[in-house]
Amino acid sequence: MAVVLKGPEELQRMRIAGRLASEVLDFIAPHVRPGVTTGKLNDLCHEYMVQVQGTVPAPLNYAPPGYRPFPKSICTSVNHQVCHGVPGERVLKTGDILNIDITVIKDGFHGDCSRMFYVGEPSIQAKRLVEVTFECMWLGIRQVRPGARLGDVGAAIQAHAEKHGFSVVREFCGHGIGRKFHEEPQVLHYGKPGVGVVLEPGMTFTIEPMINAGKAGIRELADGWTIVTKDHSLSAQWEHTVAVTEAGFEVLTRSNGTVAAP
Ligand code: MF3
Ligand code: CO
Ligand code: CO
Repeated sequence: MAVVLKGPEELQRMRIAGRLASEVLDFIAPHVRPGVTTGKLNDLCHEYMVQVQGTVPAPLNYAPPGYRPFPKSICTSVNHQVCHGVPGERVLKTGDILNIDITVIKDGFHGDCSRMFYVGEPSIQAKRLVEVTFECMWLGIRQVRPGARLGDVGAAIQAHAEKHGFSVVREFCGHGIGRKFHEEPQVLHYGKPGVGVVLEPGMTFTIEPMINAGKAGIRELADGWTIVTKDHSLSAQWEHTVAVTEAGFEVLTRSNGTVAAP
């Protein structure tokens, strides 16, 4: 299976799906406060997607090979949770950091993005991890142009994370996206410049580095989905869906609440 290139009409539909995914994050941001449960955030997002946007929450019942169906409509990953956190009864408290990852389907196409949120005041270390991870995502995005290689993206991310004493999660990566949630290519968040898939206009993929304050190792919880750091160190992640354009890149997951590029 090769990388699926998108033409102008498909890109227009990806833009709409991307904006809608980002608008779910805008919608939920004011609800991220001490005392709220991750399950409540899920329910609010689910209603917004289905009733207001007319989008389909892609995570709900998503079941890639080897996984049980994901039981909720969004992913909420708190503190040492790396990704794929399953919303539930957990109550957020001041000082928590939280990733909310939204994927919607609209008109047959997927939009996938995530942001970090602070619950109350973050620790200095947590804030630094979140900021460096955001910079990592953007350093990766800025590598995207025709003729560049995916190794350039991964290397830029890895260098920045490690310069700050943080580590890059290896087991999960960005991914091609379009009519399918996860398609080719795999977008590693580490690697060597000048190697890997050569980028071409019309490619659409996510860049979504997961960066740990401690060691890179992870493990999966018994729910079959939630990924945590082995050493219990904090982890952060940001995600955009991007398209390769003639001029370089276009971020497809943009809305009013999108955090400005550094
Ligand atoms: N949105 C995640 C990603 O960025 C995937 C979540 S899969 C789920 O690729 F089933 F956990 F939702
Ligand atoms: Co993704
Ligand atoms: Co995602």
